[in-house]
Amino acid sequence: MLRKILMGFGALVGLIILGGVGFYAYVTYQANKTYDIPLPDIRRDTSPEALARGEVIFMSLCVECHAPAGEIHAVGAPVTVLPPELGYLHSANLTSDPVGGMGNVKDEEIARMIIHGVNHEGKLRPMVRFWTMADEDIAAVIGFMRQDRPEFAPEPKKAPPSETTFLGNIVQVFVLGVHTEKRPPVKAPAKAPTVEYGKYLSEAMFDCVACHTQGLEVNEVKAAKDTAFTGGFEFDQKQSGTEGVIYSTNLTPHETQGLGKWTLEQFKVAMREGIAPDNQVLRTPMPRFRRLDDVQLEAMFKFLKSLPARESPKFAREPLPRAKVDPSAAPEKLFSSLGCNYCHGPKGQYRDKLKNAISKQPEEVAKWIRNPESFKPGTQMPTFAPLLDEGQALELARWVQSKNGEP
Ligand code: HEC
Ligand code: HEC
Ligand code: HEC
Repeated sequence: MLRKILMGFGALVGLIILGGVGFYAYVTYQANKTYDIPLPDIRRDTSPEALARGEVIFMSLCVECHAPAGEIHAVGAPVTVLPPELGYLHSANLTSDPVGGMGNVKDEEIARMIIHGVNHEGKLRPMVRFWTMADEDIAAVIGFMRQDRPEFAPEPKKAPPSETTFLGNIVQVFVLGVHTEKRPPVKAPAKAPTVEYGKYLSEAMFDCVACHTQGLEVNEVKAAKDTAFTGGFEFDQKQSGTEGVIYSTNLTPHETQGLGKWTLEQFKVAMREGIAPDNQVLRTPMPRFRRLDDVQLEAMFKFLKSLPARESPKFAREPLPRAKVDPSAAPEKLFSSLGCNYCHGPKGQYRDKLKNAISKQPEEVAKWIRNPESFKPGTQMPTFAPLLDEGQALELARWVQSKNGEP
């Protein structure tokens, strides 16, 4: 998630030169000192309604960083989407273990981490701050984290702590920022298909505004800008082994660049299945939000449609073209034109997952490729059924298997 923040480092180089030694000392001190921030009055909510809400939040937002790629056991994992210049980043063990995990960490301490980015030892950690997430939603996530579930089965091994570089510390202190005062309570709008609720989900909860707005600021600052939701944030694709950059898209109701002509149904398919109108595959880092229900997606759609239609500073879908399916293409070509390589290519985050398919019946693998969510609910893999018929999927499955899962 932080990757978006890091692209504009050029701007910060000036700062570093300006301040010299004093600046270095200041940043290092701020990043390493122990903060004495009062604990928020937020404890777990384990009512059935809150647990269901907490599950959606945790599984849509937290698990991707806190479990190894494609897994759910929240033992902590290296955060590989970020440039190495920031340092070695590793998320924490969130299992129920009293030594390695959160078993002995208070609910209020977890809440403080989510809001301030300060861990149970009072140390600033390189995690996004959810400064505008409502108290009741934080209570729901913590409630979910305290359940006896496979996600939190005790793992005694502590996760290795992140080691941030000077550049990483600059991001911690100036971009993510330090709020030392106690946050006043924040209330979520009622869950309903309204603009207000959609705004909360898009700005405070799911980071849409951060990725879909240019600049280095945090969510609440970006949301107030004139350019909010106009896209144009640049993502370098090198890390997934693909040349070039892609831009986040314009989500305002602009007729040609944005969601002006989109229907609610199209929006739902794009958000859950990763397929935009005209069968375009949405590329990483746009996540799948498969667990969001109809009310949540309708609220977000209404909110985005209520924004003023604005031009993008840099229009998306270029310079790397999105997937276009040529039905007669060989499997090898389909693998890159459909964007499988972003996730499963030599540098892909989910490369190892292809190995699970080697010993299966090709027919079953073909079914997986068309409808992965029927095997693994919530999966980040797009639903390729609208783009590939059964025959094409079978050919692709056989080809992946023939490559031993290492195409
Ligand atoms: C972009 C990746 C990322 C996301 C998303 C993320 N985390 Fe983290 N989390 C981290 C990193 C990195 C650390 C710091 C680990 C360290 O070095 O101590 C961390 C630390 C924590 C800690 C600190 C535990 C302690 O030691 O006191 C808690 C609690 C936590 N995360 C909960 C959450 C919850 C809940 C969510 C979802 C609302 C979430 N995280 C989302 C990356 C992430
Ligand atoms: C980590 C960054 C990131 C986050 C978080 C993110 N997006 Fe995206 N989104 C992107 C990128 C990049 C694209 C462009 C993908 C492409 O061109 O293949 C995109 C594309 C889209 C599209 C397709 C638009 C079009 O014109 O085809 C929609 C709709 C969308 N995002 C909505 C959202 C919403 C709503 C949220 C919050 C729930 C969100 N995104 C969160 C990065 C992100
Ligand atoms: C956005 C990332 C992403 C993209 C793009 C993607 N996948 Fe996947 N794929 C995954 C993940 C993640 C898994 C593992 C399942 C999970 O953990 O959710 C997976 C699993 C698989 C598996 C293993 C199935 C099994 O039997 O266990 C196959 C085969 C596969 N993908 C093929 C493909 C093909 C072919 C394409 C392109 C048409 C593709 N994937 C595109 C993320 C992706």
